[in-house]
Amino acid sequence: MRKNQQPLAYSLNSLNGSEVMIILGIETSCDETAAAVVVDGTKILSSVVSSQTDIHHPYGGVVPELASRKHIESIVPVVKEAISKSGIDLKQLDGIAVTQGPGLIGSLLVGFSFAKAYAFALDIPWVGVNHLDGHINSVFLESDPPPFPFVALLASGGHTSITHVVSHTEIELMGQTRDDAAGEAFDKVAKLLGLGYPGGIVIERLAKDGDPGKIDFPRTYLDKSEFDFSFSGIKTAVSRYVKIHEDSYKQQIPDITAGFQESVIDVLSYKVINAALQKSCDHIAVVGGVAANSRLRERLKQDAGERRITAHIPSLHLCGDNAAMIAAIGYHYLKDGKVSGMNDDVFSRVKTGW
Ligand code: KG4
Ligand code: ZN
Repeated sequence: MRKNQQPLAYSLNSLNGSEVMIILGIETSCDETAAAVVVDGTKILSSVVSSQTDIHHPYGGVVPELASRKHIESIVPVVKEAISKSGIDLKQLDGIAVTQGPGLIGSLLVGFSFAKAYAFALDIPWVGVNHLDGHINSVFLESDPPPFPFVALLASGGHTSITHVVSHTEIELMGQTRDDAAGEAFDKVAKLLGLGYPGGIVIERLAKDGDPGKIDFPRTYLDKSEFDFSFSGIKTAVSRYVKIHEDSYKQQIPDITAGFQESVIDVLSYKVINAALQKSCDHIAVVGGVAANSRLRERLKQDAGERRITAHIPSLHLCGDNAAMIAAIGYHYLKDGKVSGMNDDVFSRVKTGW
């Protein structure tokens, strides 16, 4: 553990003769055990994600106790694999970044405690980071990152928010969901249609054969000049449709999923583009698990383009939970001398603001 708060010296073990900072990222906030080695917050040397989907699938959602047990089994092999695939020697690591929250406490504790102990053993600094800031920083792992400031839409299983991103670490909340997150709505609708968990990817696949205009599900914009979301209404509307059409809804699943998906995308697109216009930003970032949705990617690029706004959406492997994004944000903290201490703890929810 670094004793002072001075900016870190760059690694003496440079890559290709240039001075660089090599960070190990660790992520265990939900149902993925992930580790990655990233150079200067931008270049991925390795990224390993071990998903627990098969374990939670029979329960229709993540079972916290099973998740933390599986993280305990996976953390050492996943970190070993990330180090080995990166091609670096352990001595070249300059620091460790680990998800501190928000997430499931038992799951977070596995990665956080591991990072503490590993950093202590290697005698390198470490820092706990916000998982949501990590998702936003995932766009900097791509070759065409947005210039600051930009507006970010984060749509994942636990959160949906719009932020004004001033720098890697200065992220101002503009609006967020008042009830379900967008990914949560996909998961709940999939469950009520009997499609299993996780729902997003199944809904996307089935919606491809449906007509998004056939069933007119509601769009909840709340105050059109504000940036909060509500997705519980659309979930209830799908549930009501299924009850009314109890005998025939199974034959209409492509149209139901397409209609639901389009409704969610309409709201997400409207809000993020209006937020960018309000902040006079001509770049937006769209991140989080739901950003893997191909219809959303296509619509956001098109809708943004019509307003002369560039939409930056990371590759699929960087949309879902991963540790490269954790290393990407952690790099900026460690570079500025912000480190965590042995007494620091995980947190399950974001406190106030962002
Ligand atoms: O960011 P993420 O991996 O984990 C959280 O931090 O929550 O997001 C997971 C969420 C799940 O709700 C999942 O259903 C959703 O992202 N998701 C999708 C797609 N792939 C994953 N939603 C819509 N379409 C997809 N293709
Ligand atoms: Zn996430």
